[in-house]
Amino acid sequence: MPTTPSDPQDRSTVRSLLRLWPYVRPVRARLFSAAFVAIVASCLSLVIPLVLKWIVDGPVAGGDPGGVWLGALTLLLLGLAEAALFGFRRWLVARPLAGVEAAMRADLFRHLQRLPVAFHDRWASGQLLSRGTTDLMLLRMFLAFPLTFLLVNGTTILVGFVILLQQEWTLGLVLLAPIVPLVVACSAFERRYALVARRAQDQVGDLTTVVEESVLGIRIVKGFGRHRSQAEAFRALSERLRGTELGKARLLGGVWALITVVPELAIGAALVLGTVQVADGGLSAGTLVAFLSTALALRWPVESIGFLLAMSQEAATAADRYFEVLDAPEERETSGDIPAKAPAESGGLRFEAVEFRYPDAPEDAPPVLARIDLHVRPGETMALVGGTGSGKTTLTALVPRLYDVTAGRITLDGQDVTALPRERLRELVSVAFEEPTLFSASVGENVLMGAQDATDADLRRSLDVAQAGFVDDLPQGADTQVGEQGLSLSGGQRQRLALARAVVGQPRFLVLDDPLSALDVHTEALVEAALRRVLEGTTALVVAHRPSTVMLADRVALLSGGRITAVGTHHELLRTNGEYAWLMSGADPGTTGAPEPAVRSATGAEGRAR
Ligand SMILES: Nc1ncnc2c1ncn2[C@@H]1O[C@H](COP(=O)(O)OP(=O)(O)O)[C@@H](O)[C@H]1O
Ligand SMILES: [Mg+2]
Repeated sequence: MPTTPSDPQDRSTVRSLLRLWPYVRPVRARLFSAAFVAIVASCLSLVIPLVLKWIVDGPVAGGDPGGVWLGALTLLLLGLAEAALFGFRRWLVARPLAGVEAAMRADLFRHLQRLPVAFHDRWASGQLLSRGTTDLMLLRMFLAFPLTFLLVNGTTILVGFVILLQQEWTLGLVLLAPIVPLVVACSAFERRYALVARRAQDQVGDLTTVVEESVLGIRIVKGFGRHRSQAEAFRALSERLRGTELGKARLLGGVWALITVVPELAIGAALVLGTVQVADGGLSAGTLVAFLSTALALRWPVESIGFLLAMSQEAATAADRYFEVLDAPEERETSGDIPAKAPAESGGLRFEAVEFRYPDAPEDAPPVLARIDLHVRPGETMALVGGTGSGKTTLTALVPRLYDVTAGRITLDGQDVTALPRERLRELVSVAFEEPTLFSASVGENVLMGAQDATDADLRRSLDVAQAGFVDDLPQGADTQVGEQGLSLSGGQRQRLALARAVVGQPRFLVLDDPLSALDVHTEALVEAALRRVLEGTTALVVAHRPSTVMLADRVALLSGGRITAVGTHHELLRTNGEYAWLMSGADPGTTGAPEPAVRSATGAEGRAR
């Protein structure tokens, strides 16, 4: 299971979090005002001890009940004001932060769509999913809470200590003493927590991948009775995640215990010292009360530092994971070093000394395709034939630039595909793959995806070409919802819709990777007859296995061992090329008999053979 590249050693929490700034910028005014409101609210709580001091040293000592009531009322108002301000803060941040999360998610999705296919080959989908969900949620929570409260609580602690020292500096120093060990403990905690947090978030991604695979592959899981092993794989991963989460909890528990206990001890010591001083008459009772209640008011800001740091650490990890994807380079646009127009005789689709190896292939592996030279003339239909794994799918994927050639070039009417803007390229070239993908949308929307501004008439025509008459029998015709959230179609039905999608825009170039494999021979023959009409002005490269599909083509190219080893008409190749005859007939290479006469007469394809 591919996990993602990461080096958590070599990172800084602050640097990771600073990368969020472009997203936070638009809402900075709100965030700052919210922080300011929170600071005011928090400092209000520090005024309460001063009021207490006034009550104890004034009205209580002087036996003035009216003054006590006045003091109590002031305390009540202060408390209410504090609560109201904190509520106001929450209201200030809620909406803008939801916006920040949405913007980041939109950017991630947009970027995922633009990343090259090679990137998606490399990354597990669960890792991408978890970045778009869990990690973004952690980031929003960070912006809503720890970011503000680290600032607010820090300021409160500072102001609090100033008040403490100013009340009675000897006692204040007693409380300050634990600061040094606590800072040391916190920074050690942060370092270790960063590692575990990263591990936990990566493991969430792995877990997501397993869930996704089991759901998408539910037929295989059931068909082979693999529930148990899938469940075990899931259990193992979630055990691993649980272990990591427990590790996080242990770390957090440890640092929290320290942060809670050490200040308590200091407060206890200050209490003893203070009582002695009051008894000696060196300190007023009111001052001691104020001092201790200030110290107690600071307990929460101090204690919260532990989990605020933990949440910030998780947010930094989430930011790293998010930007790992966002930093992956998008598909390269035009290279620009190719002459715009080439001589007219190089029209059609041309492969020139094309070599290709997959980006993630081992260094020493031979290229999948080597020295491919092939010319599909304008308006010609070329069939591509080859054994399983010979590289047919790979070759077809190079034309719409799902992958870029490693060497050599591919031209469309003389223009290098890398010199064409992608949008233009994808207007020129239509594709259909063996594994047809339908989206959760209506049949019509799925087919019309294949063209910019196709009309209903185009839709009808393309459905006719693809022999997709079954669409009329669907509950709502072409408006029927299909895909994951809709009606399930058979493999052959999906293939026909994918084919309709490929031809709906009447593209100049058509690339079909075995688009008829799931059709019965009769339907295939009908599709072929219709395609023949459509393909008249279209230059097409069609991967084919069955003789009946090959009949569709003007010429055939044989791909073998990563090279084009023969080009000619079906009948020429049958006579002259042993491998081709073998592929077409299933007979031994070397026997060059006519292929599968039964199939040919059954499809009626013979009449169309040239
Ligand atoms: N995404 C990929 N990454 C690495 N290697 C791949 C990838 N896709 C296919 N291959 C390899 O390329 C070779 C040709 O595959 P493919 O083009 O699918 O063959 P065909 O379509 O002729 O059956 C195979 O050896 C296959 O393992
Ligand atoms: Mg293939």
